[in-house]
Amino acid sequence: MTPLDSAPIYKITMDITVYAFIRQFLFLLPTEISHRVALTSLSLVYKTGLLALFTPTIASQPKQVMGLTFPNAVGLAAGLDKNGDYIDALGQLGFGFVEVGTVTPRAQSGNEKPRLFRLPAVGGIINRMGFNNKGVDYLVEQVKQTNYQGVIGINIGKNLDTAVENAVDDYLICLRKVYAYADYIAVNISSPNTPGLRSLQTGDELGHLLSRLKQEQQRLAEEQQRYVPLAVKVAPDLSDAEIADMATALKANHIDALIATNTTLARDKVAGLPHATEQGGLSGEPVKAMSTAVIAKFKQQLNNQVPIIGVGGIASAADVTEKIEAGAELVQIYTGFIYQGATLIAQSVKATNG
Ligand SMILES: Cc1cc2nc3c(=O)[nH]c(=O)nc-3n(C[C@H](O)[C@H](O)[C@H](O)COP(=O)(O)O)c2cc1C
Repeated sequence: MTPLDSAPIYKITMDITVYAFIRQFLFLLPTEISHRVALTSLSLVYKTGLLALFTPTIASQPKQVMGLTFPNAVGLAAGLDKNGDYIDALGQLGFGFVEVGTVTPRAQSGNEKPRLFRLPAVGGIINRMGFNNKGVDYLVEQVKQTNYQGVIGINIGKNLDTAVENAVDDYLICLRKVYAYADYIAVNISSPNTPGLRSLQTGDELGHLLSRLKQEQQRLAEEQQRYVPLAVKVAPDLSDAEIADMATALKANHIDALIATNTTLARDKVAGLPHATEQGGLSGEPVKAMSTAVIAKFKQQLNNQVPIIGVGGIASAADVTEKIEAGAELVQIYTGFIYQGATLIAQSVKATNG
């Protein structure tokens, strides 16, 4: 065991205790408010310079994926920092990459509240946020100001009031605006909370969208003399035929990475639990097996031409190992982080060090 392996243990133990204590109070608040209070407090503590005292020092191995160097293979999944307000504070907790967004061309308020529900018995969350965000221009200003040394992904989507037939226009607006500031750009076509969005995952719609985005990426790369990789984020609710078709389209359009997966519409793992019948996408442990299965199927179809970022239900080091064994080169976490705090990041990074 190296000194780096042994040193963080005390701090990690501290973190479990501190977070469990704080969480007791946070979870008494309405769900969405508690997330905001947690992030605002995190940001305030970061600004005092004290956050480093509460976060473990993580020994990590940098990883090359999509031509980028990731300080470690564990990232924050999209949707927690929708506007890029908390990148520095979240980065300080140990994430090797932070994906901000989903952002849309224009600000929008999202669905009516309540729209976020915890299912603690199974470590799950159901959300129907509906891309609430302050718009792409605001997010770009936040990204410009960050000091974070890790990789920043910017996740883009379409406004609710843009017809699905014109979705490509919204993605192109966002792509052009974020290109100079992103390390990679994630194209979200898998949120279940924007009507029609998931139809972009199949058939001619997918081919059309990917070829237009690829064309624009190439033009921007030439214009700005900098290549920013494009990743596509997919749902776990795909049939085998849809996975095969999508893999063909990703390869044909030279997409740089696949992010698998978003939340699920399935409810079999949570049937009978409070909130189980709420509309929206289910995340956390109930989506874990589905997401891992989708990663494994894509891995078979992609012939190592498109790297996979695995996300869905990671709540332990063993879950990280499972995602990597299924074919993921990088992993992301959202719901597990809400339930466990920064401890899970440290454990996950250790698991990816091999
Ligand atoms: C409250 C909430 C909001 C989310 N918002 C987004 C989003 O805006 N864009 C996106 O691509 N994914 C979004 N996601 C999906 C997560 O990024 C992730 O793909 C999914 O939750 C599975 O990972 P997990 O089980 O670790 O949470 C959201 C998830 C949650 C729980």
